[in-house]
Amino acid sequence: MHGYPFVDNVNVSVSNRTIPIRLSGSGVPLLLLHGYPLDSRLWDRLIPLLATDHLCIAPDLRGFGRSVEERMSFSIADLADDCCKLLDGLQIRRSVVVCGLSMGGYVAMQFAERHAARIASLILTNTRANADDASGASNRRSSASLALSQGVAKVVLPMSDKLFSVHTLTNQPKVVEVVRTMMLETRASTIAWAQLAMADREDFRVKMRSWQMPVVCIAGAEDTIAPTGVMAEMSASIPDSEMHIVPNSAHLTPLECPEEFAQIVRKATSTLR
Ligand code: MLT
Repeated sequence: MHGYPFVDNVNVSVSNRTIPIRLSGSGVPLLLLHGYPLDSRLWDRLIPLLATDHLCIAPDLRGFGRSVEERMSFSIADLADDCCKLLDGLQIRRSVVVCGLSMGGYVAMQFAERHAARIASLILTNTRANADDASGASNRRSSASLALSQGVAKVVLPMSDKLFSVHTLTNQPKVVEVVRTMMLETRASTIAWAQLAMADREDFRVKMRSWQMPVVCIAGAEDTIAPTGVMAEMSASIPDSEMHIVPNSAHLTPLECPEEFAQIVRKATSTLR
């Protein structure tokens, strides 16, 4: 299963579902969990930079990307359990680096809580540990209804410019276009289920105070969705955590600044190799 020189699109069968993944490289397994409303293409600029040191595994989470349409609601914990089954399906027995961006970060936190023994190191990027307050959760329920009644564009386009730094918007039009396409290709049902799952997600601010694994928190300097202050507070409450702020990036740091992101990951995982 190991030693992929290029990115392969593979389907992995786990219990009653198939998980499509991007797979590349060899070395310490690195599980890359995308945000909302995105898919595994989020990691396309990062994977080639890390595939020499890591077996990069980037799944399309339930309903996203190349996965089949979801007919039933799911929770963030379900997504974390899918990832654990995915590692089993790939016959990966050693502990892995889990890296989650934003919603992928919520999944990574659940993974840390439910499957701690599988983690060598955790990378939380452009994400937050707190759950939604009542008005945040209610906004998500409205977005879920809006996507189903009026279409995906109505929900995703208003958020698209918030995802990027000024530098990305000015100098990386291709990145902006790729993300816009990814968002618009997301199914209305996926938008709805994911919003409901995030509305009900757990608050990790207390639980993470007893985490034993090494954690790296990476923030985008211009991120307004998971601002640096929120991420710094999260990092400070984790016993073994270091915090990095990447200039010229906002909410999609690994796509906006892949070189800088890869450098942080390489440094953080050097002792695992
Ligand atoms: C994401 O990028 O995954 C979303 O902004 C997460 C969220 O809506 O909380």
